[in-house]
Amino acid sequence: MTGKNNPLNDPNSNPFEIAREAADQIAKLSGIPHHDIGLTLGSGWAKAAELMGEKVSEIDAEQVIGFSKPAVVGHGGKLTSVRLPNGKHALVIGARTHFYEDHGVRRVVHSVRTAAATGAKIMVLTNGAGGIKDHWKPGTPVLINDHINLTASSPLEGATFIDLTDLYSKRLRDIAHEVDPSLDEGVYVQFRGPHYETPAEVQMAKAVGGHIVGMSTSLEAIAARQAGMEVLGFSLITNLAAGISPSPLSHEEVLQAGKDAEPVISRLLARIAAKL
Ligand code: HPA
Repeated sequence: MTGKNNPLNDPNSNPFEIAREAADQIAKLSGIPHHDIGLTLGSGWAKAAELMGEKVSEIDAEQVIGFSKPAVVGHGGKLTSVRLPNGKHALVIGARTHFYEDHGVRRVVHSVRTAAATGAKIMVLTNGAGGIKDHWKPGTPVLINDHINLTASSPLEGATFIDLTDLYSKRLRDIAHEVDPSLDEGVYVQFRGPHYETPAEVQMAKAVGGHIVGMSTSLEAIAARQAGMEVLGFSLITNLAAGISPSPLSHEEVLQAGKDAEPVISRLLARIAAKL
């Protein structure tokens, strides 16, 4: 589906009905009627799908209503059904629409709403991000324990009031800690992007309690909570945030750091997924 005729662009459409339809299409195309876990793979996390279990189906996301082609080189475009060793099914989403693409927040959270409509009760959101704590070397995975949403947007429409206390489930973070007690936690700050932050913006994020800077995840987490899902959030620190590191940021280096860390963090995520 090209972005232009995406039905989510129509303000009179119902995004939940479109997610329902997308879930029905996934069931038909994959042969898997129900998924237990939704998992969005950000930069650096792509190999996790292969390690988590048996791949039972792979669909081009564009074939499914509401999804569109990936905008960024290095971000995949597949919806993969994986059977975990415990018999559960994960819907692995390699097709993320970012807020900075300017297609509207409905399209940003469509994959999460679709995962919920396939039956998933747990949403795992991963990303590549900048680190504010200077002892986090590129390649460090960090559990997200809260977020600060600086997009000035929300996936909730109208007077929809939803509690976000414990948005990033303590229960799920405890499971992750059981697998790797050395995992650090931090507060994720979502900027709009697509430019990286200025050093002053990074200092602001730090001053208000942030530890990680990125361009995704928060809006998706809110949509997951609205759908009644438990959220597990993971950032791969691909670089120290602007000004924390003395050297300038480059997208190529961010992608390379993701590639270098991929085997280790993917194995970690696969071990955690087996316990969800
Ligand atoms: N800032 C925002 N997004 C990012 C960064 C960063 O430093 N690194 C990877 N994604």
